[in-house]
Amino acid sequence: MAETQGSSTERGEQPSETPPGPGGLPLLGNTLDLYRDPWALYEELESYGDVVHYTAGGNDFNVVLDPTLVEQVLLTDHDAYGKWALGDVGGGIGSEGLVLTEGEQWQRQRRVIQDAFTMDRIRAYGDAMGQYAAEAVEAWDDGEEIALNEAFSRLTLRILAHSLFDLDIDAEAGTVAEFTRTVNDRMDVDNLTAFVPLWVPLPRNRRFKRRVAAFESFVEELIEQRRADATERDDLLSLLLAHEGDGLTETEIRDQMTTFLFAGHETTSLALTYACMALATHPGPRERLNREHERVLDGGIPSLAQLPQLEATERAIKEALRLYPPVYVLFREANRDVELGGYRVPSGQKVTVPQFWIHRKEAFYDDPDEFDPSRWTDGFEDELHDYAYFPFGGGPRHCIGMRFAMQELKTVLPTVLQRVDFELLSDPDPDFSMGATLRPAEDVRVRVRKRD
Ligand code: HEM
Repeated sequence: MAETQGSSTERGEQPSETPPGPGGLPLLGNTLDLYRDPWALYEELESYGDVVHYTAGGNDFNVVLDPTLVEQVLLTDHDAYGKWALGDVGGGIGSEGLVLTEGEQWQRQRRVIQDAFTMDRIRAYGDAMGQYAAEAVEAWDDGEEIALNEAFSRLTLRILAHSLFDLDIDAEAGTVAEFTRTVNDRMDVDNLTAFVPLWVPLPRNRRFKRRVAAFESFVEELIEQRRADATERDDLLSLLLAHEGDGLTETEIRDQMTTFLFAGHETTSLALTYACMALATHPGPRERLNREHERVLDGGIPSLAQLPQLEATERAIKEALRLYPPVYVLFREANRDVELGGYRVPSGQKVTVPQFWIHRKEAFYDDPDEFDPSRWTDGFEDELHDYAYFPFGGGPRHCIGMRFAMQELKTVLPTVLQRVDFELLSDPDPDFSMGATLRPAEDVRVRVRKRD
């Protein structure tokens, strides 16, 4: 692609014009539009072109709405963009963890942590994924009403804590759930206080700081317990501690735990929630999964060898991640003046890359709002721009847990769906709460029907 062979930034040319966009109100910019209805704001933004400027919470944002430009930001020109730690909104949580570090520190961390995500390591996590999913279903009664998002959050946290930290986290699940909620609420664009600096002594800000401090102490305690335990293990926590003093500081280790406890369970839980929600109201795709599961699994928990045969299951997962990407927007910060789509993005401004919008563009997807797993044929994927579908991001900062997540989704979903059907009780077209992740605004409630 001509545009991605090397940008004009590298060639030294620099357009002078900055991207167009809606002006918004003095001081507030587009903050209120973002607060009232982010979807409507994006519709308006799109009418200005592929790179559009808006302001919110005192920050300048440039949203990128075209896959070729997404590729430029995430891959081709990635070194021109730093991560944006959400500034004050993020509250410094996990600031020395893998999601937010940069440069040499990030490279060093990624090299160490990569060893916990080799193919062999991930395969070793397979048994827990299937077994815990079967146990979760076992605990539901026929006819019981449950909140899918809560049930899957507990399950994926249990899988993650066992796999990466060899922890049985059941007793502490509430602490992690509360922390997850705190982080999401803080970042929710529906909540105007997301834009109020943390130093402002609002009760809400004080509560946030208290909860973050409590969670960090909880994580530090877990690390202390492990230090005191001489048993040999080869999980992520042992790997991190083995590098303490030689590559990783104590704070970096704590922040990795915080990062992984959050990034590694909430995302996968949302993917399972939305996949089951969509399948509950789409009998055709659901029936195709039933047939595939009968043919390949015959009631059993998927083994690693069977996973590649679960093609219809994989298509349903892909389609759920398209319509409801748990990480629905990526942020970057230009670390120098950059050229983007013929405009100049000044150094220090933010760049927004919204999966939730690009994944539903008619230019790439027929009937884009429809849940249709059958669209994912090999031919369709060959034709699709790599960055018209990027639920796991792209370039060097792509998701380190992608293979872990896909194995988990392909193991858990068939294990659950062979045992139960879900009757959806809540809105099949839910409202979202757009915080750190794309959560449903209300619980996704279902009635469990046990299958024979
Ligand atoms: C369906 C599940 C998941 C989705 C949709 C997802 C999505 C993403 C995305 C889009 C990014 C890139 C962020 C950016 O470029 O700013 C990312 C990064 C990351 N993800 Fe995931 N993720 C998932 C599961 C997981 C799991 C299971 C883990 C850990 C076990 C994990 C750990 C991470 C980490 C540590 C990073 C930062 C990587 C780096 O910057 O080097 N994710 N994820």
